[in-house]
Order: sequence, then C-alpha cells, then structure tokens
Amino acid sequence: MTQQHLAFADWLQSRAQHIETVLDDCLPAADAQPARLHAAMRYAVLGGGKRVRAALVYAAGQACPVNGSTVAVQASMDRAAAAVELIHAYSLIHDDLPCMDDDVLRRGRPTTHVQFDEATAMLAGDALQPLAFELLAEMPIAPALVVQATRALAQAAGSLGMAGGQAIDLDSVGRSLSRDELQTMHTMKTGAMLACSVALGGIVAGASSATREALDDYAHAIGLAFQVVDDILDVTADTASLGKTAGKDAAGNKPTYVSLLGLDDARALAEELRVAAHAALVPLGDSASMLGRLADYIVLRDR
Ligand code: IPE
Ligand code: IPE
Ligand code: MG
Ligand code: MG
Ligand code: MG
Repeated sequence: MTQQHLAFADWLQSRAQHIETVLDDCLPAADAQPARLHAAMRYAVLGGGKRVRAALVYAAGQACPVNGSTVAVQASMDRAAAAVELIHAYSLIHDDLPCMDDDVLRRGRPTTHVQFDEATAMLAGDALQPLAFELLAEMPIAPALVVQATRALAQAAGSLGMAGGQAIDLDSVGRSLSRDELQTMHTMKTGAMLACSVALGGIVAGASSATREALDDYAHAIGLAFQVVDDILDVTADTASLGKTAGKDAAGNKPTYVSLLGLDDARALAEELRVAAHAALVPLGDSASMLGRLADYIVLRDR
C-alpha cells in the first residue's frame, strides 16, 4: 500500500469513528420510553457500516473553501453527515423487511426485524427519518442554507429518489430491464442518497455554484458506481465479508448490472464511472483529494 492509501484508510477510519459518536449522541437513549423502539433505532444505526455517506459529506466540505465560522460549519457538517446516515439506516431496515428483500443478515448481525420484530423495525425506520430532518434544522448556519439542505435530503429520500427507486426495484423482480431503466432505478434507489451526501457537504460549506456543479458531476458518477459495485459484490463476495447474505439478487430474481451486462462489462462500467468521477474533480484541485480517494474506494472495495 502506498503512503497515500494509508493516509486515506486512516482518514476514513477516523471519520467513521467520529460519526459513530455523533450518531450515538443524537439518538435517544436506549432506556428512554418507548424503550423497545429506541433500542431498535440504536441497533440499526450504531456499530457498523462503512459510513461512506458520512465520509462523502466531510470530503465534499473539505473540497470547498469555507465561509464563516469553522466551529459552526463543523457542527453543521456533523449534523448533515449524521442525517444521511440516519436516512440510510432507515432505508436498510425497510429494504430488509420480508415485504421487500426479506434479508436476515445486515452488517454481520441479524436484521432489525429479526432482532426485534417487524412492526418495531418498521417504526424504527419511520422514526429515523424525521430525526434526520431535525438534525438539519439544528444546523447553526445561514437559514437559507438549512432550507437548501433540507430540500436536497427530502428530494433524495423521496419518491423521485431512494423510495421511488425502491418501488421500481420491487416492481422489476423477475423482469429484464433495459439499460436505461436499470440506470434510472440504480440512480434513484442508491445514487440519490450518495449524491445528496456530496451536495450537503457543499451546501454546508457555502460552496459557489461552479463548485457545486463539479460536485454534482462527481456525485452522479460515484452514486451509480456504488450500486454497480454492490451488484458485482453480491455475486463475487461471500456472506462473511459482506456482512449480508451474498447471492441474494439472483435468488430474488432482481435485474442488476451483472445480470444485464455480465461481470466483466459491469466491472468495466464501474471503472469508467471511477474515471469520470476523477475527471469531474479536476476543477476543484488538491482540496478534493479525499473525494478522489473515496471514488477509488467505492469502486475498488471488497465489501
Ligand atoms: C448498502 O449500502 C445498500 C445500498 C445502497 C447498496 P452500504 O454498502 O453503504 O451499507 P453499509 O452502510 O456499509 O452497511
Ligand atoms: C438497496 O439496494 C438500496 C437501498 C435503498 C437500501 P440493495 O437491496 O441491493 O441493498 P443491499 O444489497 O440489500 O444492501
Ligand atoms: Mg433492495
Ligand atoms: Mg437488499
Ligand atoms: Mg445489493
């Protein structure tokens, strides 16, 4: 491993540890009533996950020259990073429910509905979503930026973003989608929340519109790449390293980039998107280096 890769690995680990403490602080205590609901929320959010979305918020923030008080901006970055991880955790709880992908393993542990029960899991997801927006509302930055961030997260999580992509996913079981349809589904169900993470870093840092455009181009590429690689890993990785059941897509008759293009072409597409992500960062210069490393990580990861 090169020095640069080690520096990135350390940075990612330190961001993951940091967001864990932020999330721990913002979640209600496990013994606060209703205790079973709060225990389920904490179970789903804490103690696992790669924390890629939080890292994208911080890395996008780093890529922008910061306006205003750094303490307020850092506190707001923490809330934005926690907000995307909360929405993500909710999406995973619901994705794993028997009425959706029916998975029993997540992040190396029983899924939330297995550990608790289906109704509690559903409610834990329901409650994580407003908590995310509460955190955004508490960001100590200009109110206009809070509004922009709120709108961005609402759009990314909603029916034209993640929830809509999940609806298309369920509707596509057993069907073969065209390449355009598959790209739309993946961009919505997964790309939207990753792209929103990047956008939030830019919004909180008060990025210029030129910077935001470069960030958007980058975000679009890594957002799609993330789900292309998730499809690949479902075929190539094992359950132990994924922490979730491997081979679920084929078993569940899901159209994926692997089922559409085959493994080699799916890998080639991920690589193309990695190169596109780097190209988008060129106007941002050295300050965007962690975003570049994150694009590499997203495409080259093994879990
Ligand atoms: C899994 O996301 C669900 C998808 C959107 C593909 P991650 O692979 O980021 O899951 P964690 O957070 O690391 O567990
Ligand atoms: C899930 O996609 C996307 C979400 C919005 C949660 P998958 O169903 O492929 O995610 P995994 O493989 O279960 O993590
Ligand atoms: Mg799914
Ligand atoms: Mg799933
Ligand atoms: Mg998957």
